[in-house]
Formats: sequence, C-alpha cells, structure tokens
Amino acid sequence: MEKTFLMVKPDAVQRGLIGEIVARFEKKGFQLIGAKLMRISQEQAEQHYIEHKDKPFYRELVDFITSGPVFAMVWQGENVIQISRQMMGVTRPHEAAPGTIRGDFGLIVRKNIIHGSDSVDSADREIKLFFKENELLEYSKLI
Ligand code: CMP
Repeated sequence: MEKTFLMVKPDAVQRGLIGEIVARFEKKGFQLIGAKLMRISQEQAEQHYIEHKDKPFYRELVDFITSGPVFAMVWQGENVIQISRQMMGVTRPHEAAPGTIRGDFGLIVRKNIIHGSDSVDSADREIKLFFKENELLEYSKLI
C-alpha cells in the first residue's frame, strides 16, 4: 500500500491546527500508521530540505522548521501521495484553492502549514528520516 510522509509545520502546531488537519485525512479515508510531536534536529532539517540546498531561502527554511515542534505523520492508502498533495493545495498559500489546507489556513510561503512528500522516492526517504521501523504500525482497516 502506498505511504506518504506528512508534517504539520511549527506555524500550524502553534495555531492549534493539528486536530483539524488530521481530521481531514481521516475523513478522506486514509489510514494513520505513525505519528509523533517532535522537534526536528538541525541535521534532519538539512537532510529533509537537501534538494533546496542552493536556493536563497534554504537557511530560512531550516531555521523555521527547527523553530518549534512539528507533528510528523505517516499515512497510507490508495494514491495517498497525489491525493494528499491535492488536499494540501499548492506551495504558495495565497495561490492555493479554498477548500485546501493551505488555501484555508495559510497566507505566506514560508509558513505554509504542512509538508507532504511529492513522490514515492521522497516518501521513502522522508519516512526513514523521521521514523524508526518500529514506530510504524500496520493494522487492518475495517471500513
Ligand atoms: P515544503 O513543501 O515544505 O517544501 C519546501 C518549502 O520551501 C516549501 O514547502 C515552502 O515552505 C518553502 N519555500 C518555498 N519558497 C520559499 C521562499 N521563497 N521563501 C521561503 N520559503 C520558501
């Protein structure tokens, strides 16, 4: 079954949006198989955003994501990567459609509420970066 890594960023944790965001993915029908409130280390942040290493906003990005707790999650389900990205909305919240998470709750690109893996390869890499194998629970979904 396809898996993705989703992370409620420090801005949204501060604003008390964890429950609202988790509820959207639960109601959609995806299965939560791992979750934790955590503070990302500098090294994890640098690894996570390695593809943006040469961008002018890289340092700002790393500083922001390590500035406070995040809520890291692994979700599973049919086409969860693509569908969760549609539910998140585009990166720039001011361009994200109403009804999407960023469209409903975000205003500026740095504080864009949530991160989601963009491919099977990045999901694999990101899940391994933030979760140990024994932190992921496989259990049957009855509905
Ligand atoms: P995310 O999906 O976590 O992946 C990369 C992040 O870079 C993106 O969300 C934005 O939060 C951030 N980002 C993109 N463009 C900019 C920018 N111009 N300034 C600051 N952060 C940015």
